[in-house]
Amino acid sequence: MELIRQPQDMAAWSAVCRAEERSLGFVPTMGALHEGHLDLVRRARDRHAKVVCSIFVNPLQFNDPADFNNYPVRLAEDEALLREAGCDAAFLPVKEALFEGFTPHAYDLLGLDAHWEGPLRPGHFQGVVNVVHQLFRFVRPDAAYFGEKDRQQLLILQAVAAHRHWPERIVGCPTVRAADGLALSSRNLRLSPQERAQALAIPRALELLQQEAPITGIAKATASARDHLASQEGITVEYLGVARGDTLEPITDWGDLGSAIALVAVRLGPVRLIDNIALTRSVTASAVGL
Ligand code: PAF
Repeated sequence: MELIRQPQDMAAWSAVCRAEERSLGFVPTMGALHEGHLDLVRRARDRHAKVVCSIFVNPLQFNDPADFNNYPVRLAEDEALLREAGCDAAFLPVKEALFEGFTPHAYDLLGLDAHWEGPLRPGHFQGVVNVVHQLFRFVRPDAAYFGEKDRQQLLILQAVAAHRHWPERIVGCPTVRAADGLALSSRNLRLSPQERAQALAIPRALELLQQEAPITGIAKATASARDHLASQEGITVEYLGVARGDTLEPITDWGDLGSAIALVAVRLGPVRLIDNIALTRSVTASAVGL
């Protein structure tokens, strides 16, 4: 695996791929890699001749300086994991070089930032879209892979890419969970053993909502899942609600929808965690205990 630090070297490496007509898959990350990231690398590897993974803790997307300063950095471990996963190049740009001559652009996020993370993290999605576009300038991939755990980020990137006719395909991939259901996240590394145990209330609340929403309706199911979560020691709920899958507009009843997304954000000690799950209106066998 090649380690590439200079954006110009990244651009040259990518140009060789294109000259050889090799398709290029890209996994942008902020490092502290876990199985979720490695799953993205493997999916990209299955579909492309070459795979690049970037590791860059992007200052533009942190609205909380403490979160930025405490973001886990584990470069040596990350490199070993990427080698093992069959990544061809790791792009580790230096901030000054990546942003040389760069002026942030105010993207039209098409209203997709109006709810959930948007109001709680002002500027966050602009920071994400700006850095992804800047990384694309040098990597120039055919497709880039993102996890559904950050569902709002994924929808925003897909919408902006379509709206601005970016040539890169934005591919969403299922959330990878620990055996006990907690969604994998680099921030989990900052949880104490006790907080890690308390965090299980997050997937439990989402599962509860998923099972109850087809039976009792969205409003009731959301209220009982929220009660469940709020009663867990150590957890402060920032939001727990249900949205249309396409616009992320909050909903309290199914209307004519057959599916929806439940989204949650909590604080647990110093750490903020998010998760989401798809809901379907039809009552599944498991939900009625068959
Ligand atoms: O999902 C992330 O880790 C980041 O938001 C991303 C897409 C790498 C941009 O910094």
